[in-house]
Amino acid sequence: MSGFVPTVVLGGTGYVAGELLRLLAAHPRFELAAVMSDSQPGEPVAKAFPHLAAAYGETRFKSQADVEALVTRVPECAVFSAAPHGVSAALIDSLLKAASQAGTRLRVVDISADFRFRSAAEYESVYRHAHAAPARLAEFTCAVPEHLRELKTPHVAHPGCFATATLLASMPLLSLGLTPPVLYVTGITGSTGAGRKPVEGTHHPLRHSDLYSYNALAHRHAPEVAACARAATGVEAEFAFVPHSGPFARGIHVTVQAPLKSAVDTSKVLAALREFYAGSPFVRVTDSAPRVKEVVTTNYAHLCAASSGRTVAVMCVIDNLNKGAAGGAVQWMNRIFGLPETEGLTACAPGWT
Ligand SMILES: NC(=O)c1ccc[n+]([C@@H]2O[C@H](COP(=O)([O-])OP(=O)(O)OC[C@H]3O[C@@H](n4cnc5c(N)ncnc54)[C@H](OP(=O)(O)O)[C@@H]3O)[C@@H](O)[C@H]2O)c1
Repeated sequence: MSGFVPTVVLGGTGYVAGELLRLLAAHPRFELAAVMSDSQPGEPVAKAFPHLAAAYGETRFKSQADVEALVTRVPECAVFSAAPHGVSAALIDSLLKAASQAGTRLRVVDISADFRFRSAAEYESVYRHAHAAPARLAEFTCAVPEHLRELKTPHVAHPGCFATATLLASMPLLSLGLTPPVLYVTGITGSTGAGRKPVEGTHHPLRHSDLYSYNALAHRHAPEVAACARAATGVEAEFAFVPHSGPFARGIHVTVQAPLKSAVDTSKVLAALREFYAGSPFVRVTDSAPRVKEVVTTNYAHLCAASSGRTVAVMCVIDNLNKGAAGGAVQWMNRIFGLPETEGLTACAPGWT
């Protein structure tokens, strides 16, 4: 591939869109052609994201009609959707139709939940509304990039933030058959995981200096994780997931625990994790317990493990907005366009945030 790829971001004023714009500003090949806003077309991007003013001082949000016209004028286009679930599928469907009529090679990475399941029935059973573009489901694969070498569909559904951390920690255990397929997952997320719109459960005075669980064993991401694990390993696993609200803005810490089928000590579990992720530039297996600040703002994941001989625990930290959303999506798009997987994604964490 040579030259720049015109790139579109949907869900413009949202937190994930902001992180996509930050990554695209430094990406050598994906060039922002339009960022769509449903609520603020025509408004300056820097008004929604003052921290991005240096890169987007003159850029304004575009309407859906502008973006649909744009995709008909370019030979190829990369589309990242950071729209909400229930909105994303229809937007993507109309862009794909416009591109197809114009002969544009358009590729999508959807960060919403709309294309994570293989069937509309599975989607509808979790999200309780009809899928807006069921005929497109077969055009998407939902996977963490580290767990799928060869992509067989034109488009990708990002598994999401909790799912990325849970799958990175769990897949070695399931793939290597170290544990039975029932995994106990504790996840703690920062407040940006809930998006821009303030609601009671994410309001700063209620969240800061506090820690609490929510939707225990009933969170919508558990069946999505199980579907990804099934697709990647053929194993029908249960993820007993208890999410928690953490008193920080960015980052996720996940602990996956399970009984061991046979005694394996900590050093052997760590060696197995290192071998499993040997070809994965964004995954580091560490000897000490990983901390959220090691990876916040980056596309890296840090993993560690401990074994009692009878039970194993695997800890994983990622940044929810980056590896768990925008960064993981850029990693996929790099691969879709034949670029090195790491392009534009290797900046280190600041460490003190
Ligand atoms: N936050 C995370 O850590 C995270 C991680 C993984 C995945 N995700 C997923 O990524 C997506 C974006 O998350 P977010 O946290 O950025 O959410 P957010 O801050 O709430 O932003 C979503 C944006 O979507 C747009 N939107 C809202 N309603 C719309 C409608 N009816 N039609 C068209 N656009 C609409 C809005 O921007 P405009 O009005 O400007 O269009 C809104 O700002 C969601 O699907 C979420 O589940 C989030």
